[in-house]
Amino acid sequence: VPLRDGDRDVTQQILDMLDEKPELNSSSDFPQIPQAEIKAALDRLASRSMIEYKTEDKEEVVLTKEGQTICAEGSHEFKVWSAVSRKGKIPVKELANEVGKTSVIGQGAAIKNGWVKSEQGFLVPKAKEVQDSTQQLLQKIQETRSVSNPNELKQLKSRKLVTTAKVISYTATKGPKYAKEIPVEVTDLTADMLADGSWKTANFKPYNFAALGAPQDAGALHPLNKVRTEFRNIFFNQGFVEMPTARFVESGFWNFDALFVPQQHPARDLQDTFYVSDPPAADKPREDPIAEAAMDDMEAGSRRLFSTGTQKQTKPRDYEQYWNDIKTVHQDGAFGSIGYRYPWSEEECLRLVLRTHTTAVSTWALHRLAEDPRPARYFSIDRVFRNETVDATHLAEFHQVEGVIADFGLTLGGLMKFLEDFFSRLGITNLRFKPAYNPYTEPSMEVFGYHGGLGRWVEIGNSGMFRPEMLEPMGLPKDLRVYGFGLSLERPTMIKYGVSNIRDLLGHKVDLGFIETNQPNTGKYTWSVGASDGID
Ligand code: PHE
Repeated sequence: VPLRDGDRDVTQQILDMLDEKPELNSSSDFPQIPQAEIKAALDRLASRSMIEYKTEDKEEVVLTKEGQTICAEGSHEFKVWSAVSRKGKIPVKELANEVGKTSVIGQGAAIKNGWVKSEQGFLVPKAKEVQDSTQQLLQKIQETRSVSNPNELKQLKSRKLVTTAKVISYTATKGPKYAKEIPVEVTDLTADMLADGSWKTANFKPYNFAALGAPQDAGALHPLNKVRTEFRNIFFNQGFVEMPTARFVESGFWNFDALFVPQQHPARDLQDTFYVSDPPAADKPREDPIAEAAMDDMEAGSRRLFSTGTQKQTKPRDYEQYWNDIKTVHQDGAFGSIGYRYPWSEEECLRLVLRTHTTAVSTWALHRLAEDPRPARYFSIDRVFRNETVDATHLAEFHQVEGVIADFGLTLGGLMKFLEDFFSRLGITNLRFKPAYNPYTEPSMEVFGYHGGLGRWVEIGNSGMFRPEMLEPMGLPKDLRVYGFGLSLERPTMIKYGVSNIRDLLGHKVDLGFIETNQPNTGKYTWSVGASDGID
């Protein structure tokens, strides 16, 4: 236990006292000093073997406020007697003026004790001298803090003159290394001490193993990273493999056209999408061996999980045909669709954009699946960019969590069941689905969960079944259906960590102190099970 300057007083007083007498008791020898302070001083000395001490836990009798007044000024009956003998006689009606309102009750006892008597409405003295035994008793109790006769204690308690309290006190005696002062303590073993042998007698300062360590400058995981890990684990547990998403810049083709998003769609406006001006245009979609190596790895993982027995086919993906089919399905219609029937622009398709959703990557992965159509589950969690007006809940860049599931003969009910299962793993049950619109899915559904902390239904995701206009130009067979769903990583993180402004979580204004100390507010914000009000 370290010794600080302010502690020296009590510690020294204890040493001084033990120099004078063999044993001290904290409550009787140091009644003014708080027990905690005494204990700290005793611990300091005991850790140096300078003293030994024992803790005593005993019941003490203490005077109430009224008990203390009587102890100092005398009992009520004594006050009545002394007023009466001073005045000679006092009209009973005026007793209160002489002794005070509370002491009037002493009248009965003063008469019973034979100290005064009442005569025709007056109190007159009867005894010349009296013994105030109540006061004497209380004075003794104040000194000894105890009452030996249990009946007497009971009576005093019922008269509300004393109470009992559990009191901890310490009795201390000298220890083997007792000295009149704490000797100078050595904190370091030096070469000199070893050389001259003084280490043998040196008084080393004891280690303080109870001290709190200084806060460490350690790294900390960002809340978004922690929630991302949770999502990844949920995906991995359900047979998903992770798509390579290291492409922030995409062509209009992969971000929009291949997803059957018409070239006039408002999402493609400058107000919604960031365009890249240099270089001025993308290449037409083509083989890209470096980027595709990562996709090869992912597919190998997926094949291991879905061992359908199929072998990878070597038929090359025909990008030329894919390009032409996308043009046709927009402009003239194809694959049973009448298309949008507008003059499709190659230039618009090859504009470079900061990807607005990770569905651009899913599209690329699904196109490759046409090489060897088979069941597959792919996911990604990465950054996307939108030309948003920045406010408390919107930033121009955020993270998307996205999954796609390809299999033969899938139906919408299966998607709903999948999403219920997926979100229940995050603790979100009782989902609601609202019909919605995406150019690339039909049907489409927004997903809502009831948030107990916010007291309302909160949109937590977007989902749907990809359209034939998107899947068939890729070369996927008609009966291979694909579910897709996406959500932001930021919203569940904000809910989980009680962050109300997205700028506290992401961007240049983030407080690094928050990143270090953040704790999820478990329990405070709950996703309720039984709530039912309207979706807003
Ligand atoms: N791309 C959608 C979005 O940005 C999410 C989504 C993905 C919806 C896949 C349906 C299918 O909100």
